[in-house]
Amino acid sequence: MPGLDLERLLQGKKIIICCGSGGVGKTTVSAALGVQAALLGKRVLALTVDPAKRLADSLGLSELGNREAPVPEERFLKYGKKPTGSLHAMMLDTKRTFDELIERYAPNEEVARNIMHNQFYQHLSSAMTGSHEYLAMEKLYQIHLEGRYDLIVLDTPPTKHALDFLEAPGRVRAFFDRSISQWFLKPYLTMGRLSLNLFNRTAGTVLRLVERFTGAEFLHDVSEFVTGLADSFDIFRSRAEEVMHVLRGRETSFLLVTATDRSALEEAAYFFDRIREASLPFGGVIANRFHASPFEEPAGRAPDEDTAREEGIAYLSEVRGLSPSVAVRLVENFDRYCRLAQRDRRVLEGFARRSPGKVPILTVPVFDEDVFDMDGLLKMIAYLFPSSP
Ligand SMILES: Nc1ncnc2c1ncn2[C@@H]1O[C@H](COP(=O)(O)OP(=O)(O)OP(=O)(O)O)[C@@H](O)[C@H]1O
Ligand SMILES: [Mg+2]
Repeated sequence: MPGLDLERLLQGKKIIICCGSGGVGKTTVSAALGVQAALLGKRVLALTVDPAKRLADSLGLSELGNREAPVPEERFLKYGKKPTGSLHAMMLDTKRTFDELIERYAPNEEVARNIMHNQFYQHLSSAMTGSHEYLAMEKLYQIHLEGRYDLIVLDTPPTKHALDFLEAPGRVRAFFDRSISQWFLKPYLTMGRLSLNLFNRTAGTVLRLVERFTGAEFLHDVSEFVTGLADSFDIFRSRAEEVMHVLRGRETSFLLVTATDRSALEEAAYFFDRIREASLPFGGVIANRFHASPFEEPAGRAPDEDTAREEGIAYLSEVRGLSPSVAVRLVENFDRYCRLAQRDRRVLEGFARRSPGKVPILTVPVFDEDVFDMDGLLKMIAYLFPSSP
């Protein structure tokens, strides 16, 4: 399996996106990449999604939440590390991003305020769940354009939809298309029900919501919304295309984080295929919670298992003075671990064969405890960056 050189990625990319299925370690890996990039001299922002409370605490996110907050240097110094760059962390809030978009595209503050208080908008923004992933990318792009960071590491939510932003330009186009906006301006009641299936999924959801509204109040809200933003639809649409352009570009890299059990790897395969189909720049796979073999690669086990087992039992009972039953249990336990390690290696090699020679993989072992503070992140960094001092 080809190795994955993360240091080269940190040095050469401006955006790194960690995706993968639920609970595999995306948030932890993103935080670890952020820490290491800061140690290597980068000004880095770790954009996280719903970090575990203890990790949020150690990144100083508990108080500031969805604002960019510096991780104080003392947190590094405490562990004998001095960042030559800087690390900021921030939690993503997609609802807020939507509001910011309206603020940006509305012609003036008053229109923006009206829209945000507009009942139709409020339903719309919470109904566009499929677009939350896109809004994360929009936020990323906005910060990227501002140019205050050398590198942004983006964590993604625990959902198969995490890559749905790929369809965003199409959806935004359909949703904000002038034809739809013109339709919205027509009285709702003149619409035949049959017309509903003309619109995409997002619009469909909205239309179902729309049915809850009646008469003048609804029409007023919709036309206020549409006329307030009418001139911005084109900007909105081309913006979505710009976002995709950056995500597909040379400065971006997608990392796939996975655990090494079969079901996690099956989901990883789904992400891998989507990344490839969409021609997104793929960095490689981080196989987290890996059971490393205690023996030299590639054999993975002692050459003669039976002899090794007997010798082990004899050593533990005769030399180390353990009772034979404890010695047997210890050796059996060790044996089970070896089988687990063999299985992990086998399924990972199977995964690598999906695209021969093209799936750089790096393994991170399962630790004895959760990774929630700088100490834990540094432990993970030792595996993510094996050649780093
Ligand atoms: N190598 C590891 N060894 C032990 N524990 C780990 C390891 N990697 C991550 N963890 C722990 O596993 C848990 C899940 O990790 P994390 O929150 O990073 O996953 P995630 O993919 O972001 O999850 P979600 O999909 O729910 O957002 C955390 O408690 C984390 O500390
Ligand atoms: Mg997470």
